[in-house]
Amino acid sequence: MDRIKITGGQQLNGTIAISGAKNAALPLMIASLLTSDTLTLKNVPNLADVGQLGRILRNHGTDFTIAGKRPGKSPMQGETFHLTSRDIWDTTAPYEMVSKMRASFWVLGPLLGREHKARVSLPGGCAIGTRPVDLHLEGLKKLGAKIELEDGYVIARTPRGGLKGGKITFPLISVGATHNCLLAAVLARGETLIENAAAEPEIGDVARCLVKMGAKIEGIDTHTLKIQGVTQLEGAVHTVLPDRIEAGTYAMAVAATGGDVFLEGADPTHLQSALDLMVEAGVTIKIKKGGIQVTRGKEALKPVQVETQPFPGFPTDLQAQFMAMMLLVKGTSTVRETIFENRFMHVAELMRMGADISQSGDTAQITGVDELHGAQVMATDLRASASLVIGGLVAKGDTIVNRVYHLDRGFERIEEKLSACGAIIERLSE
Ligand code: EPZ
Repeated sequence: MDRIKITGGQQLNGTIAISGAKNAALPLMIASLLTSDTLTLKNVPNLADVGQLGRILRNHGTDFTIAGKRPGKSPMQGETFHLTSRDIWDTTAPYEMVSKMRASFWVLGPLLGREHKARVSLPGGCAIGTRPVDLHLEGLKKLGAKIELEDGYVIARTPRGGLKGGKITFPLISVGATHNCLLAAVLARGETLIENAAAEPEIGDVARCLVKMGAKIEGIDTHTLKIQGVTQLEGAVHTVLPDRIEAGTYAMAVAATGGDVFLEGADPTHLQSALDLMVEAGVTIKIKKGGIQVTRGKEALKPVQVETQPFPGFPTDLQAQFMAMMLLVKGTSTVRETIFENRFMHVAELMRMGADISQSGDTAQITGVDELHGAQVMATDLRASASLVIGGLVAKGDTIVNRVYHLDRGFERIEEKLSACGAIIERLSE
């Protein structure tokens, strides 16, 4: 199992090219199920999750090539994907595949839209509690889907003639449920209204791609989506938007270590709340043509308070990295996590490095310490892993981050990008 070794204490200086967004690439790949034509996606990041979804789509019948080559075990770099789902030969998404990656549950909507039936494993381990996907299922029911749960699977079908437009009002904002229902509604008969939709930039990116494919969608980038169903969609060429979470992670790494880094390709409009908070903490942010310049000199940062919220609020996917950025900041910073109940698994690991964090319920208080020291730490989930890397970059001595496969799910070549800016970081492969 790969590990990452970091020798802390170096500033970061240089340029980091931001990759395509994982959380847009995944639903965009899934959108290829909606057409028998070829969907070409450019700027797809080379990540473990992308490879895993490729395998799931192939299981449904999607032929997928990368820049003209057939993919091997993992996708190659560089990545223009051609996805063609001429025929869907299997509408089942099996447990072995869906359990590895939650986003694969989003095949449900497009399979129902195009094939009028689907059998998709519930994601995660909880087969009887429908709560984690209740919003997806309730939304699809509003479009006429008949849904049963059987042996851990969602068995769904439509009435004769397929899905029918309807009004979906989500009681709380869900990125996944919005994707699933949007991907279903584009092929439903008549008009669908999705209220309290998530407005994350990745949803806008998917909606814009669907429009290129012939879908009729109003209200893109807002919390109300109006969709006029069409009978079929066509192929299109689309470029995946830059990864705002990757950009925010590197911005916070620079803020922690000090230095001066240009985040090439980062879109500041996708990161406004995080950038505002960093400015409040004392980081210098300059919006430039083609990216964001992040600078921190010798000046000390100030403690700040943050609460995670759906977009345009501060993203939960940057909460752990933000915490790592504040570990050496004198005074007490506060982080409140409102999206996920238990997204503080990095706290215990950061404390192994000497961090002073007290956690109670959904709130963590970080009191700046004079120094962190390198330690053996364990990556517990994707974004938590990134916070451990930031901790390692500022800690004295060597940090070993174990279970790096979590990082590989969502950060493309992280050690290469950081070492090109002066970090002492290497992958230890076994
Ligand atoms: C997406 O997950 C992202 N994943 C997550 O990123 C991200 O943290 C999250 O949105 C919030 O921004 C991808 O895009 C692949 P939700 P998703 O449905 O769609 C509750 C990463 O690190 N809920 O918006 O699964 C849910 O429990 C990942 O890249 C229900 O109650 O998140 C949570 O509390 C991690 N019922 C809240 O809504 C439902 O049916 C928001 O979840 C669905 C969700």
